[in-house]
Amino acid sequence: MKNSLLQLLADTYVLSVKTQNFHWNVTGPQFYSYHKLFEDQYDQLTSGIDKIAEHIRSFQIIIPGSLAAFLKFTCLKESDISSLLKSDQMVKKLLSDHELISNNITNLFNIGKEWDEVTLDLLTERKSEHDQAAWMLRSSLG
Ligand SMILES: [Fe+2]
Repeated sequence: MKNSLLQLLADTYVLSVKTQNFHWNVTGPQFYSYHKLFEDQYDQLTSGIDKIAEHIRSFQIIIPGSLAAFLKFTCLKESDISSLLKSDQMVKKLLSDHELISNNITNLFNIGKEWDEVTLDLLTERKSEHDQAAWMLRSSLG
């Protein structure tokens, strides 16, 4: 359980950094709508990160809260070449990360008779936010 939640925290953190990176570097005719959408999404991710981390702390588990630790625990790949990406490529990358995290959470439900109610609530809320973010990104691709 501990490692699953730490991975969820790390994945959410890496996706938040990637989303903010794209918020800064996006260009093109739809600049403003993507710039704003990415801002809304990293704000949501930031708030999710805090909830996940504080829930992990409620089990007295120490959070490995460094960037190096997040990179060790995450299953996502960073994206550091955003200046070379077109806006729709950014959207596709974010979309696939949201889908991946959402699928990982679904897998946690399937293995998780061990989860307590509060953890299940948190996982449900996180999955719902990722699904909503994925829907917005998918819809903006046309
Ligand atoms: Fe900004």
